[in-house]
Amino acid sequence: MITLPGLIDSHVHFRTPGQTHKENFITGTKAAIAGGFTAVIDMPNNKIPITKSQILNEKMKIAKKQILCDVGFHFGSLGDNLSEFDRVKKEVFGLKLFLNQTTGNFIIDKKSLLKIYDAWPKSLPILVHAEENVIDLVIKVCRETKKKTHVCHVSSKEELQKIIKAKKKGIKITCGVTPHHLFLTEEDVRKLKSYGMMKPTLKTKADVDFIWKNLKYVDCIESDHAPHTTSEKRSNQPPFGVPNLETTLSLLLTACSEGKLSIKDIVRLCHDGPAKIFGISQNAKIIADENEEWTVRGSELQTKCKWSPFEGRTLKGKIKKVYIRNKLVFENGKFLVKPGFGHLQRKGPTLNRA
Ligand code: DOR
Ligand code: ZN
Repeated sequence: MITLPGLIDSHVHFRTPGQTHKENFITGTKAAIAGGFTAVIDMPNNKIPITKSQILNEKMKIAKKQILCDVGFHFGSLGDNLSEFDRVKKEVFGLKLFLNQTTGNFIIDKKSLLKIYDAWPKSLPILVHAEENVIDLVIKVCRETKKKTHVCHVSSKEELQKIIKAKKKGIKITCGVTPHHLFLTEEDVRKLKSYGMMKPTLKTKADVDFIWKNLKYVDCIESDHAPHTTSEKRSNQPPFGVPNLETTLSLLLTACSEGKLSIKDIVRLCHDGPAKIFGISQNAKIIADENEEWTVRGSELQTKCKWSPFEGRTLKGKIKKVYIRNKLVFENGKFLVKPGFGHLQRKGPTLNRA
């Protein structure tokens, strides 16, 4: 058995408000806990985008009643809500900007990037969905404004090379990778079809190998848990995204058993890294049997969407117990707390620290 700090996932899509047929705060936080995550940060690309403090507050009100683990929030912007920034800066962990097309209609005009950067408070990171050459623009603006920037889900060799170069120049930039970009390649899309479609897309084995080899430059692993129903995925226009909260740690523990990384790396990538970037402190721990094998079956998962891109894979590492604030919240597949147990995590002086 191994004991680890409760894992932190700085990048999940829990779909409230507006798309609770895909996930809600109850099923989402159950999936988090079952996967060893005790604090998660939810993204703002909801059906009604979280770009106004009033909408954020409504979302937080719903969350408060439903969450089983701790949840924080990122704010969103399309460039037309700069006056809201002051109102939400104590409520959120970061500002998420989409610079490439993905699920929802959330893309910003690149010309407004500098204006948004200037308006956002220095103390909080700006998270960007920036693929390929768009990273150049982000690095430039990050260098000029000196505002903390986190590049989400880096997926290619070229992107990571650009970030490594920027880091070596002392630019304030961090980056995350997802488990799917570490454990799947474009080859898998042939079999997975739309179940292997997400943004950024899966890349070549050479890209994946490069990321593994340069893991020391990666600051965190983010699940990018993005549930969609199986019927949506089977439709003519399947939405992008895959669920991942319940497979992330086991994929990493399996890789650990194969000598690809160490437990220390897992703690750095799934706890210390996100805690430092986003300023989260939490009293939580998980106990896992690192040798127990289990086979991924979507139907057995807690996520409402009930499927996984890793369906049928046998993984090593099973969560046995999860503690939050010294309370045993999960034991051998059973939840021992009710919706509402989790705390809303926020940045300001009211931060619900343990
Ligand atoms: O694949 C993705 N799905 N990428 C994103 O950036 C958004 C996400 C979603 O919300 O489904
Ligand atoms: Zn995402």
